[in-house]
Amino acid sequence: MLSPVLLVASVLFVFYSVARGGKVLVFPVDGSHWVNMKVIVEELHSRGHNITVVRASNSWHIKEESPHYTSITLQMGQFHDYMVDDLSSELLQLRMKGRSFSADLALGNLVVERFSVMHRDICTMVTAMFEDESLMRSLQDAKYDLVLTDPAFGGGVFLAHRLHLPLVLNVRWTVRGEAHFDIAPSPLSYVPYPGAELTDNMTFSQRLLNVFAYVFTRGTFSQMTDAHYTALSKRYFGPDVDYFSLFQNADIWLMRNDFTFEFPRPTMPNVVYMGGFQCKPAKPLPVDLEEFVQSSGQHGVIIMSLGTLFGSLPSDISEEIAAAFAELPQKVIWRHQGPKPSTLGNNTLLVDWMPQNDLLGHPKTKVFVAHGGTNGVQEAIYHGVPIVGLPLVFDQPDNLSKMVARGTAKVVDIATMDRAVFVEALREVLHEPSYRENMQRLSRIHHDQPMKPLERAIFWIEFVMRNGGAPHLRTQSFRMSWIAYHSVDVILTLMMALLLLLLILFLTIKKCLSALLKKKVKCE
Ligand SMILES: *[C@@H]1O[C@H](CO)[C@@H](O)[C@H](O)[C@H]1NC(C)=O
Ligand SMILES: *[C@@H]1O[C@H](CO)[C@@H](O)[C@H](O)[C@H]1NC(C)=O
Ligand SMILES: *[C@@H]1O[C@H](CO)[C@@H](O)[C@H](O)[C@H]1NC(C)=O
Ligand SMILES: *[C@@H]1O[C@H](CO)[C@@H](O)[C@H](O)[C@H]1NC(C)=O
Repeated sequence: MLSPVLLVASVLFVFYSVARGGKVLVFPVDGSHWVNMKVIVEELHSRGHNITVVRASNSWHIKEESPHYTSITLQMGQFHDYMVDDLSSELLQLRMKGRSFSADLALGNLVVERFSVMHRDICTMVTAMFEDESLMRSLQDAKYDLVLTDPAFGGGVFLAHRLHLPLVLNVRWTVRGEAHFDIAPSPLSYVPYPGAELTDNMTFSQRLLNVFAYVFTRGTFSQMTDAHYTALSKRYFGPDVDYFSLFQNADIWLMRNDFTFEFPRPTMPNVVYMGGFQCKPAKPLPVDLEEFVQSSGQHGVIIMSLGTLFGSLPSDISEEIAAAFAELPQKVIWRHQGPKPSTLGNNTLLVDWMPQNDLLGHPKTKVFVAHGGTNGVQEAIYHGVPIVGLPLVFDQPDNLSKMVARGTAKVVDIATMDRAVFVEALREVLHEPSYRENMQRLSRIHHDQPMKPLERAIFWIEFVMRNGGAPHLRTQSFRMSWIAYHSVDVILTLMMALLLLLLILFLTIKKCLSALLKKKVKCE
């Protein structure tokens, strides 16, 4: 009777003694990406793992001192966070000029230029690191179990390869574009490329557009990244290594999305979906905020936040937004930086910061005005709050277009918006019940899974610790040549064989026929 209990206890003991006390080397991407990485770092820490974070000396968000990790600060660090800030405001200015082909092109050029510099600086930082022998030796000696990184920049991937460590990615974008396209088969006939704002049900012209979007975007990414990383890879790993295969060789891909957000598409055994891992149940609001929310009565509240980078909008836009809010009976909580709009109604509360997650989870919250950036859309899905979208730049328009396709959001073009348009969009989402119903359905689906997304992510990280990687889940696909991958050689061989067969058949028939004819002639 005792032995099964003992068995379970000893299995648990082994499980914990291995799972506890792992050592993880984290190479994060600064800025908003760190917000998400931090969630995982803190969870790993709370489970007793020892975390080391590589950061640049001029990092804004990644603190040197933390109760959750020890840090390695690279003096060479040139990852300019302020560059992302600058870029964002420049992009916003371009964006305000409206959407046209030339505006999109200008936007694209600016992004290429700036990101190219950032990738170059990351490579400089990694070179400095590799050249620092004592640092590299101490990293070797520390005997980490794995490297956890965000492959939007390549530093962590190179470090993992240099240290011969298993690699876990916290990913949505790699240095080549959307991550799925780097490892999983992605037929462009029904997998829309992010940025094209298409769905999985495309007409002929949309499929054509999808192919263009794919080719164009991949080209743009190559332009920004290939030269820098190829040089780095050549220098340290030799001329035969295709640097991108180092990314594709990762053990586990923790994808920051899931199928409440993404359209159904082929995936891979080492892809783990953890969309919504950063979401938490709402906590009670601070007393004054709760009072404000309650004062909305049966009308409820609208909350608006455009994320950290876009706190201040151009003032004419702010005026229009404030005027639109003032026309509504709802109360509004608006995260706004910059001068107070003169048209601000007495129903609108301006705040510097708001507990977005707790507000989204509040039963009185009716609509979320969002830009479609990190966490916003996921938190809205988690709490089932419909969206009025004001997408600005990067993949935000595409993020929101996915929500529009599911009938959970209404998008307004910020470049052409005025108070009438904005108030109409708000009224539509407030009063047309389908928006809320659809979002609540997505929310139910999102919650209906056997394991919380964060637990799933941690499980797989610990799996890699326990098993020294997950090579049994990695497919061969990326190690094959293009010809072999698409079976071009096989198809050609079969076609040749068929041709040969036909030829033989043809010759035989011809011979028989001529023999017959000769016989006939003789007979006559
Ligand atoms: C964690 O690992 C680092 C690097 O090896 C080491 O300096 C530090 O003492 C460790 N911390 C704990 C709590 O074990
Ligand atoms: C796909 O789109 C076409 C029109 O473009 C529509 O007729 C059809 O019903 C759609 N199919 C699905 C499954 O949504
Ligand atoms: C708020 O403004 C509206 C109209 O602008 C006015 O009718 C209402 O009395 C004001 N409420 C308060 C509390 O000032
Ligand atoms: C778009 O949504 C994804 C998934 O929720 C998120 O990871 C990404 O950060 C969002 N895009 C931007 C520009 O924030």
